[in-house]
Amino acid sequence: MTNSANPIGIGICGCGYWGMNYVRVFSELPESAMVAVCDQNPERLNVVAQRFPAVARYTDIDEMLQRDDIAAVVVATEAGSHFKIASRALAAGRHVLSEKPLTTTVSDGQALIQLAEREGVTLMVGHTFIYNAGVRKVKELIDQEEMGQVYYMYARRTNLGPIRRDVNALWDLAPHDVSIFNYFLNSTPDWVSAVASNVLQNDREDVGFIAMHYPNNVLCHIHVSWADPNKVREVVVVSSNKRIVFDDVNPQEQVRIFERGVTVKPASADSYAEHTLLMRDGDIISPRIAISEPLKTQCKHFLECVTTGQRPITDGQAGVDIVRVMKAIEQSIHQHGAPVQLADF
Ligand SMILES: NC(=O)c1ccc[n+]([C@@H]2O[C@H](COP(=O)([O-])OP(=O)(O)OC[C@H]3O[C@@H](n4cnc5c(N)ncnc54)[C@H](O)[C@@H]3O)[C@@H](O)[C@H]2O)c1
Repeated sequence: MTNSANPIGIGICGCGYWGMNYVRVFSELPESAMVAVCDQNPERLNVVAQRFPAVARYTDIDEMLQRDDIAAVVVATEAGSHFKIASRALAAGRHVLSEKPLTTTVSDGQALIQLAEREGVTLMVGHTFIYNAGVRKVKELIDQEEMGQVYYMYARRTNLGPIRRDVNALWDLAPHDVSIFNYFLNSTPDWVSAVASNVLQNDREDVGFIAMHYPNNVLCHIHVSWADPNKVREVVVVSSNKRIVFDDVNPQEQVRIFERGVTVKPASADSYAEHTLLMRDGDIISPRIAISEPLKTQCKHFLECVTTGQRPITDGQAGVDIVRVMKAIEQSIHQHGAPVQLADF
């Protein structure tokens, strides 16, 4: 258990939109002490100074790492700098919670895992949706026998922007859904096929359609877009007995279960009849889900792992698994949607 009498000192690198949420959450948790922040942009440090005057401020990560009251570092900069900053912090013996994607190459991610193991510190990735109570509920349902066989899943993550300058819409948004599918299925895809487009005349892809094939013949699909007037954050799971909808923009009914299904009844051995499809009707249920902030749940889990040495649910390997999928997606896009085997990465 984490101990509020001996709080874990936190340093946060990157205080943009998302990093500020970390500063707030770690300031609120009794198990952590929000010690210092680092941002190369002094204007961002001024924003921190106004809201959290007691937090020390740095423009350089190496200077922040000189402090001996920082036990753990959060990396909340743009994707391209995660590896550099996380490796500095790990090499200095600090536990690291890195934002997604862990890195932009598989080899960099693997290097971070090795570094964390060598230093004997925790490496965790901020795949926030795995700490979302609605997603956890869906996982619980999928793991129940009455769900039957999972046939397919699809996710839509669309909105008008916000457009990032460091990565395309696929790298920005799809890691969330890949992390959800990997978590639901306890596995990773064996191949992917993806197409993408630059509809906003942007210099990088802002719309993408991704198909992924998982073991047991489960098909998954992800649609991401920065150019869609409608904000959708939805994941649908279709199984032989039920259909589950996770809707992150509907807090009243975040999860809905449609208890209807199709059962395939095999033809009897002594008849020439074809298989029969039996339709079953049923209720639509919205289970009650306790309100919690996913980022706070994630940060608590990190502190718990730092204290106990337990392996995070979204550990370095889970982060690398997602980077591997993203690299395969990237290659498939270059090949106009050709299937790309994950084993090649
Ligand atoms: N898990 C989620 O739900 C979620 C949501 C939003 C963003 N994110 C992730 O968080 C990260 C940050 O996203 P954002 O939207 O806050 O971006 P942002 O551009 O608003 O902020 C990034 C900040 O990092 C600073 N920075 C960049 N390089 C630095 C360096 N070398 N040293 C110190 N500071 C540096 C920048 O000055 C900037 O203030 C991204 O990796 C993004 O994918 C995750």
